[in-house]
Amino acid sequence: MENPIIVALDLPSPQKALKIAEELAPVVGAFKVGKQLFISGGSDVLRKLRATGAKVFLDLKLHDIPNTVAKAVMAATDLGVQMTTVHASGGSAMLAAAGNAAHEQAAMLRSEEPLVLAVTVLTSMDDGDLAELGIEGGTQEQVLRLAKLATGAGLKGLVCSPQEIEMLRAELGDNVQLVTPGIRPASSRPDDQKRTLTPAEAIAAGANWLVIGRPITGAADPKAAAIGILHSIDPELVPESERPEPIPEVVDCAECGKSLKLDATEQATGRYHCPYCDKDVVH
Ligand code: C5P
Repeated sequence: MENPIIVALDLPSPQKALKIAEELAPVVGAFKVGKQLFISGGSDVLRKLRATGAKVFLDLKLHDIPNTVAKAVMAATDLGVQMTTVHASGGSAMLAAAGNAAHEQAAMLRSEEPLVLAVTVLTSMDDGDLAELGIEGGTQEQVLRLAKLATGAGLKGLVCSPQEIEMLRAELGDNVQLVTPGIRPASSRPDDQKRTLTPAEAIAAGANWLVIGRPITGAADPKAAAIGILHSIDPELVPESERPEPIPEVVDCAECGKSLKLDATEQATGRYHCPYCDKDVVH
């Protein structure tokens, strides 16, 4: 299995994003650059992220006439990104144009073809928002309709919420790549995410890639947080050079000194949440 962690670099400046990316590159699979970071940092930030060796996911959620979207996807391919997004609601001609543009431009450059991911229904929208747009039948039905439209137009990946992974995997089979945000490790705060899965649950449900932001970028030690998440999915995913010495099963909390029994992940990563002092501790 490839390292499935995509770190959402939702940070206030390109400098901060690049600093954290350099630290995280050895232990994550990809970095996601959204509209804010791309508008402030431009293609320069993408080149510098590529130079860390990790994959780059340019998340601009394109939605325009087919020709314009195709040209934008070609430009993203020129920049060497590995993943990019379009809105499935742009229609089958736009989706096919996006997929073809990625294929043909990569063939011309003799480079790796970026994975064009379709975004179905934004998770900020509910059934009432769709009804306002004249779409009856609810979000689940619309997600499935748009997912089938996108894969029918030749796209090989979708962005979906944790709640949709099992349904999409069952309906569309194993060939589609599913990328999901809304991931929270068991010990993390939910922030503004409402319906979350843990990293291991999302992978077990059928996700290929996990978009994770604040649980990593907002942690006191982002690299240790990423290693802990990787370990919880599959200890073998942690690069050997990054595996800390395991600590004993029973330790005294490094913050408050009370005795605790740790699980296997906590022992291997040296990170735990102490129920006595309610702190996230790096031993
Ligand atoms: O910090 P957090 O882990 O919540 O970041 C999740 C990332 O995934 C953010 O960049 C957010 O914009 C994005 N996202 C999301 N939910 C969606 C689509 C994208 O959280 N439905």
